[in-house]
Amino acid sequence: MIIVMLGAPGAGKGTQAGMICEKYGIPHISTGDIFRSNIKNGTELGRKAKAFMDKGQLVPDELTVQLLLDRVAADDCANGYVLDGFPRTIPQAQVLTDALLKNGQKVDKAVNVDVPDENIIRRMSGRRSCPKCGASYHVEFIPPKQEGICDHCGSALVQREDDKPETVKNRLRVYHEQTQPLIEYYEKAGVLATVDGTKNMNDVFADIVKILG
Ligand code: AP5
Ligand code: MG
Repeated sequence: MIIVMLGAPGAGKGTQAGMICEKYGIPHISTGDIFRSNIKNGTELGRKAKAFMDKGQLVPDELTVQLLLDRVAADDCANGYVLDGFPRTIPQAQVLTDALLKNGQKVDKAVNVDVPDENIIRRMSGRRSCPKCGASYHVEFIPPKQEGICDHCGSALVQREDDKPETVKNRLRVYHEQTQPLIEYYEKAGVLATVDGTKNMNDVFADIVKILG
């Protein structure tokens, strides 16, 4: 099963992708997480990507597309995967469609986690994530058992650099301009399903499971 998560920054794509992967035993592939891990490890890719991410802009396709295609060609993706944060533009979606077609595959479901802009800033300002295992929390809505510590691996939680209100506003603008058209793209492909992302995390997940079966 090949699943694409769609939705605004902070809609809960990462949170739901993590739950889907746990239930269905397939890998969670987040281009944002791949870039952040490169930044943390001080790689050349990380240095280049950071300049765009810190401003809330998209990382250019030449740094993104091949990286993603290489990742989904790995052995652990043989039974499917969840894409979180890719594709983010129509050209990226087209590259993915074409690459999958070559293997006789296609995106099985595009899950659009729908959350209005008003809710987004509050979610972003409270988000804390684990730099080691990638788990995501919210100080108010989804707190870890012990404040500031990851439930899964015990690492100290951090706040993302691009979660400052000014950067979030820019990310939302970029989302509406460049990523939102993917909703129509996948609707036309007959694989779109939209869930109400303002519900609590477990209710959103229950709705997704109904869709995925
Ligand atoms: P990326 O890491 O993909 O960020 P994003 O799309 O902006 O989305 P987020 O990760 O911020 O939000 P999310 O939807 O995963 O929400 P989460 O589950 O954490 O990309 C970062 C940057 O990398 C981009 O800006 C770009 O520069 C670059 N990039 C990445 N991919 C790229 C690509 N393909 N092409 C070009 N550039 C690319 O939830 C948010 C918060 O809300 C959390 O605190 C969470 O605990 C909480 N929450 C979740 N669900 C609920 C709920 N139901 N109720 C209440 N709170 C909830
Ligand atoms: Mg995310």
